[in-house]
Amino acid sequence: MREPKRYVACPVSELQPGTRKIVTIRGREIGVFNFHGKFYAVNNSCPHHQAPLCIGQVTPEMGSAGIGDYELKDGPPILSCPWHSYEFNMETGANLGFPDRYRVKTYQAKAEGDDVVIYI
Ligand code: FES
Repeated sequence: MREPKRYVACPVSELQPGTRKIVTIRGREIGVFNFHGKFYAVNNSCPHHQAPLCIGQVTPEMGSAGIGDYELKDGPPILSCPWHSYEFNMETGANLGFPDRYRVKTYQAKAEGDDVVIYI
């Protein structure tokens, strides 16, 4: 297995918390997100029917102990597909409803100096 290569996605100043950017690296469209100061990179193709996944809504994961009770979790955010609302963990790529069936490719993303970099 080869070592991932480092690619600059954009300057950190272009990706403020709560924003995203879609970049093309090595022919792949990848969504790069800043969620509360942490960076995530997700392949921009939903594994269900290839929707442009990275234009979907980003939210914290919610948990519930029962009806009427819910809490926002501190873990990785959830990306919802704009076509059929399948939800994906933005760190692992696992689909929340069908984790054994659908998984989107994710990449390591972080700030290095003034740049947001992705390892592919
Ligand atoms: S194309 Fe994404 S859930 Fe169907």
